[in-house]
Formats: sequence, C-alpha cells, structure tokens
Amino acid sequence: MNSLWLDSINKKSFPSLSNNIETDICILGAGIFGLTCAYYLTKLGFKVTVIEKDDIGEKTTGHTTAKITSQHGLFYDYLTQAYGQKLAHDYLEANQNAIKNIKQIIDDENIKCDFEYKNNYVYTTKKSEVDVIQKEVTSVENLGFPCAFVTKAGLPFPIEGAICFKNQAEFHPLKYLYGLCNSIIKNGGEIYTHTTAINLEKDFDDTYIIYTNKHVIKSHYVIVATHYPFINFPGFYFTKMYQSTSYIIAIDTKKTLFNGMYITASSPTFSYRTAKYKGKKLLLIGGGDHKTGQPSCFQDTYGILEQEAKKFYPDSKVLFRWNTRDCISLDKIPYIGQYANTMPNVYVGTGFKKWGMTSSNVAANIIVDKICGNKNKYEYVFKSSRLKPIKNMDEMKNMIVQSTNSLLIEKLKPANMNFDEIENNSGSIIEINNEKVGIYKNPNGKIFAVKPVCTHLGCLLSWNDVDKTWDCPCHGSRFNYDGKNLYDPAFKNLDTYDLEN
Ligand code: FES
Repeated sequence: MNSLWLDSINKKSFPSLSNNIETDICILGAGIFGLTCAYYLTKLGFKVTVIEKDDIGEKTTGHTTAKITSQHGLFYDYLTQAYGQKLAHDYLEANQNAIKNIKQIIDDENIKCDFEYKNNYVYTTKKSEVDVIQKEVTSVENLGFPCAFVTKAGLPFPIEGAICFKNQAEFHPLKYLYGLCNSIIKNGGEIYTHTTAINLEKDFDDTYIIYTNKHVIKSHYVIVATHYPFINFPGFYFTKMYQSTSYIIAIDTKKTLFNGMYITASSPTFSYRTAKYKGKKLLLIGGGDHKTGQPSCFQDTYGILEQEAKKFYPDSKVLFRWNTRDCISLDKIPYIGQYANTMPNVYVGTGFKKWGMTSSNVAANIIVDKICGNKNKYEYVFKSSRLKPIKNMDEMKNMIVQSTNSLLIEKLKPANMNFDEIENNSGSIIEINNEKVGIYKNPNGKIFAVKPVCTHLGCLLSWNDVDKTWDCPCHGSRFNYDGKNLYDPAFKNLDTYDLEN
C-alpha cells in the first residue's frame, strides 16, 4: 500500500540523464536533504545537477511522518550527559533554526504544503517514567530553551506526564519537495530521475567523475544525499550506522481528533499526528520499530498500531499502511560534512534517525557553508569524521554481533525449512545441492528463487513476510522477492535461479 503522501499527489519525475555532462555541483539523491542543498546552491548561482534513482521523494521522504521538530524524543538530557551542555545546546538551536528556515523557504517560494505550527509532546502513561521526563525538562531549560512539563496533552487517554515544545510544525512532505523542485529548475538547476549513481572517482584535475547507470557526470563538488552512503571505502559508514524500520497507519474515524504531535517516551513506540486527505482529517499512528532485517510479522508491526487505534477509535478504518527505514548512527547524532578525509569536495548528510525534516535542513546549511567557504557554528556537532568515544556501547555490540552472525555464522548453519514446507505467499531460505537458495512462492504457487546474499557486503539476507522482501540485517539493504534491489546501500540486484525448468 502507498503512503498517504504518495497517494495524495501525482508522482513527479524528470527525464533521465541522456548524455555525459559537466557541472559545478552534483547531488546524488533527490530526497529532502538533496533538494534542500540544491535549492540553496542554485539560489547562490551555482550550476547544480541532481540525480535520483527513483521518482522525486518516492523512498524515505515519501514515507516519513513529516514532523518538523527539534524534539527528537527524549534526547537533550542524553546529549548533555554524554557530550556536554554546549553541544546539546547547539544541536537544539540548529534544529530550532531549521524550523524557521523551512518556513522561510515555504514563504519565499509560496509552496502550498499544508504547513501548520503545532505543539510537540513526548509523553508517558507510566508513573515510573515521570522522573525521566522531568529530567529532560530540566536539561532543556538549562540549555535556555522554553519547554513545559504537562499532565494533559489533548490525547484521548490519560497520561502521567509529557514534555511539550511549542511552535513545532508539520506539513505534506511531497508538496514541499515538489515546490523545491520548481524553484531549483526556475533557478537554473537540472534534475534527472531514474538515474542511479554507481561509482565515484577522483579525476586527474581534482574534479570527480560520477558513473551512473546511464552516463557520466564530471563535477567539482559532490554531495552524497542518498538514503545510505553508497561508497563503502573510504568513509566506512557501514561500520557506524544501522537502519531501523518503522510502520505507519492512517485511520479515518468519525470521532474528533486532537491537534498536536506526540511520541511515547520509551518502547513500545507510538507516534501520532493528523493529516489532511481529500477534505478529511486522518490520524497517523507510527511505531512497531525494529532493526531492519530482523524477522517481523504483521501482528508485531501494523497489528499493534491497529489495536491501539481501535482502543480509542473503535470505528476506525485503516486507509493507508506503509513503512519506512531510518539510518541511525551509533551515538545518535547525524553525520554531516566531508565524506572522508581523503575525499575533499565530497560531502555527506546521513544518520538523521527519525528526524530528517529538521536534520536535512541543518545538513544542507552546513554543507552549503562548506562549499562557500563560510564558517558554520554547528558543523562541529555533526562532524562526519568524528572520533568521539561512543557512549552507546550496547548499540555498538549489537551491530558487531549482528554483522558477524549474518556474514559468518548464519551462512554456515543448515537451513531449517525445506521446499515443501514453504506455503504460498511466503518465503524462506532452503538448501539445494549444499547451497542456500531464497524461495518465495506467490499466492498462486509461482516460484521465485534468488541467491540470498546481499550485494552490498555479502551478509545473508532474511525473509520479510510483511512486505515480501529480502532484507539485510547488516546495514539494511532490501530486495524485492524477485531479487530487484529496492533500498541502498546495495544497488545491484540479487542473482536469481530458474527452478521451474
Ligand atoms: Fe551491507 Fe547487506 S546492507 S551487507
């Protein structure tokens, strides 16, 4: 099922690249981060070329909840404790500025994108978590930012407490993105869709050659704005980020809906906002998070969201279901800046967690300043080559264990299913002639067989029965049941087998 955003607007695409070209700045990826960079840079008069593998905003930006907020869960007490008050302050200020910047773009370019200011709340229904919320309130106040502890937040159920940030916002992310595209083209920028970056090489004159699936682009600067940085070496982002999948439903109800944006303080996550759709106000409920590539089922994902909706809106009807993947760094701070020390003039913005609306604007401003040679006071917070001690050792251990399992241990274990045990409309890994083969049987029994080894760095894939995809537990690449690559960092399809002949 499409996301509400994709369903409520026509797809936007541009011609794909049809010849070799030269440009000042090549941006790889036309999501909110890439297009925000392109918008600012074309306004400054640079010759900018954006290439995109899919249609505009079709992947991450078209599947977000689109909350524009500096309240990234309960984050500021963690940041203060782990990295000090100055860094926590600057992170918060940068994200607050991003809200203003987005509004400024919307006003300057007259983008009709349903932008509305709303209060944002992180709430709890558990007495045992009130202390944690109060600690967050104190930390945010100590950073000089106004916030409030409240015990009523307008939700249709009682809460024990919440921290409220006023004047946060929400919008329709694709309407905003399409508005950016119009301004980029008006300013002389070029956008090519269905054009995939495959490789990047430094040329003899210190420019870069970008190899795409179509033609070649020569550029002075490159901004890697793909969902996951696709160049493995140097950069090594695959050693310091993982992907998390979360699920969203949009429901229709006759009951009156609330007006704010909300998220729970701890697991299980429930996130709420409303959105306009064909003259109605729908409720969006998000949650069901798990590491991408870990086994999941309908009940643990969409199922819990639908149960939650029924508790408070018994008449609710699910109109949309969709899911999304977010890149999360080990210290929970995005990576923004130079891609690697050995790659001057190549920049990256990634690891926005689930807060890409503001983080993408922060990232675009930092990178535009770097290209223009201006100092940006927030650059140090997000430095992509940082070597801070990781304060989040649990995540670090999890990632190492997961990668070792999928690269080595699981590959050597015998498969625990055989061909006949796989039901129609389901999939699994089996063994044929001592080789692992990924099998999916469609609802009519047609067989699709793939080599279940990720084309990124070779981890063993796992079957995702909710979406009928092969997902990678190492860094979150995904492939359709027929082997077609859907999500990076991998960009090649899986090898397939023809078992029916
Ligand atoms: Fe890296 Fe699969 S995504 S090995």
